Amino acid sequence: MGDTPREILVTSALPYANGPIHLGHLVEYIQTDIWVRFQRLSGHTCYYVCADDTHGTPIMLKAEAEGVSPECLIERMHAEHLRDFTGFHIRFDNYYSTNSPETRSLAEAMFHRLREQNLIDVRSVEQLYDPVRAMFLPDRFIKGECPRCHAKDQYGDACEACGATYLPTELIGPYSALSGAVPVRKRSEHYFFRLSACTEFLAEWTRAGHLDPQAANKLDEWLKAGLSDWDISRDAPYFGFEIPGAPGKYFYVWLDAPIGYMASFQNLCEREGIDFDRFWTQGAKTELYHFIGKDILYFHALFWPALLHHSGYRTPDRVLAHGFLTVNGEKMSKSRGTFITAQSYLKHLDPEYLRYYYAAKLGATMEDVDLSFEDFVARVNADLVGKYINIASRSAGFITRHFDGHVRAVTELEPWRAFDVEGYSDRIAAAYESREFGKGLRMAMELADRINQYFDAEQPWRLAKGIEDPATRETLHQVCSVCLRGFQYLSLWLKPVLPSLALRVEAFLSCGELSFARDLPPLGRIKPYEHLLTRIEPKRIAALVMENTLAPIPTRSDGAAPVEVAPIAQPISIEPISIEEFAKVDLRIARIVRAEHVEGADKLLKLTLDIGCGERTVFAGIKSAYAPEALAGRLTVMVANLAPRKMRFGVSEGMVLAAGPGGKELFLLSPDSGAEPGMRVK
Ligand code: 2FM
Ligand code: ZN
Repeated sequence: MGDTPREILVTSALPYANGPIHLGHLVEYIQTDIWVRFQRLSGHTCYYVCADDTHGTPIMLKAEAEGVSPECLIERMHAEHLRDFTGFHIRFDNYYSTNSPETRSLAEAMFHRLREQNLIDVRSVEQLYDPVRAMFLPDRFIKGECPRCHAKDQYGDACEACGATYLPTELIGPYSALSGAVPVRKRSEHYFFRLSACTEFLAEWTRAGHLDPQAANKLDEWLKAGLSDWDISRDAPYFGFEIPGAPGKYFYVWLDAPIGYMASFQNLCEREGIDFDRFWTQGAKTELYHFIGKDILYFHALFWPALLHHSGYRTPDRVLAHGFLTVNGEKMSKSRGTFITAQSYLKHLDPEYLRYYYAAKLGATMEDVDLSFEDFVARVNADLVGKYINIASRSAGFITRHFDGHVRAVTELEPWRAFDVEGYSDRIAAAYESREFGKGLRMAMELADRINQYFDAEQPWRLAKGIEDPATRETLHQVCSVCLRGFQYLSLWLKPVLPSLALRVEAFLSCGELSFARDLPPLGRIKPYEHLLTRIEPKRIAALVMENTLAPIPTRSDGAAPVEVAPIAQPISIEPISIEEFAKVDLRIARIVRAEHVEGADKLLKLTLDIGCGERTVFAGIKSAYAPEALAGRLTVMVANLAPRKMRFGVSEGMVLAAGPGGKELFLLSPDSGAEPGMRVK
């Protein structure tokens, strides 16, 4: 890395404004935030902008389903997203919205420039149309039978049963997922960006060092297969920007999404007096980096550079694609409790544990990142607490007790020189620069190991016993000073990953701000050591998974397959279970809102239960003991995280607890007065 200060603009992909931020999203934002923090700590100017991706049919329909305007929905989501990012110490210079005047005017201007260059075509397109809702249906809103394997209720673009991809028009017995109506074919005019005409430019651009080798190979494949023109318009009703001069036609969400990067930056520039053009004109000397997931490479490495180039703007220096998150080796899953939202994680665990874990697993490739809970606990506890923090907690006491907090200069000491800290510093900085965070952290932990070994070998606790002897006293001072100086370096190297811990460390060491841009000032007088970081307790993970298993019951559109149920409590087993196993059962106070007979069932009652956060339906085998009218309004206890089960009469979403041999002798459990629906039974 040279010494010349760089000016860099960095983005992460814009999250859709129709769902919460979850641990999968966070791989990217944490990765980007670490890289940005490293650049700033190295003395460079680095702006980090992002925004909510607010347009499109799913957002429009979600708002409709909630009975609010799309503007109202996106405003709420914006606040929630920003709260979650902030909770994970992700610090944007601007977190904006694509539904902004800046995005609209940039999109319109770019569209005009493309049209001037004859890169926009208008063509008639036939699509499936919902005659009841009076709208064209995106592929995901058409369902039917898979033309290959004949699985029912498959989406319009791909079959989840056999993996086939097809056109929605190929589905057998298609129906609208919105109204259930049979869609009809209908033609309308669409605007196309003539990507095929940009092939030559893109072939050159994609081989010019803007992509990692794996991504560049993918691009080669796409280019060889030939580029199709891109449909950039959608018909009303649509939540987005109307195309100028084309009433009822809107820019497709994917056209204005990347323009949202520019718009967010433009908004920042206006607020802070930054020169927008220095970052976006062709030939700009500043740098532009986009961090993205591998699933949106096509948009960022083909459409986006072509759009920018042909509308007169600079193109990105780097498009950096990462892999997906798996949890315990599998796709995140609601039923396994591994679809974890940012908010839920923050209720149970310190965000810096996850920042460290992701960083330790990240490299500069599109490999997926696995969050294995067992490994997460082991790695964070072993590395951060057992190796890194351990150095300070063991050394600081001696310095405070015997040397009034004064740390001795160590530069000339042989044991210090043997660590070659400067060499580590250079290699770790290079690893950050090239996004090899895992490699950088491994090097840091290697030095932490060596420092701990040195401490063990010198046995300061024994030296302290002979402190009356001046030479022994001096050795004790040296050993602990070397260790604390090492700790100071480790804290710098970890600072991009653990910014909040770094603040506590800086206060403890009284050493000013740790920075990669200048030599670390020698340590002077430290403060007495106070706890800096605690270990992860495995029970916190259990509680987190538990809470997410309780997430709303998947509906058919989530692809969940309901299963059979036994509706009544089983006899008590005398087989012991562990406390962790018991903790898996989520028992909640429930109010019976309604109890009804079930036609054709002689043992069951259908109960509608209020559990504080919503209603659940449970089929319970208690008819022999209770008349339905005796139950309404009564409180009881239910197992709230039992997987939904399909019974002959409907889906049962839990189980109520009752005791007794059966028949008339069946007693529904009831809490004492004062209990409220939704309270957890402990
Ligand atoms: O895939 C997504 O989640 C999109 N919302 C990403 C948009 S990134 C950019 F182009 F705006
Ligand atoms: Zn199929």
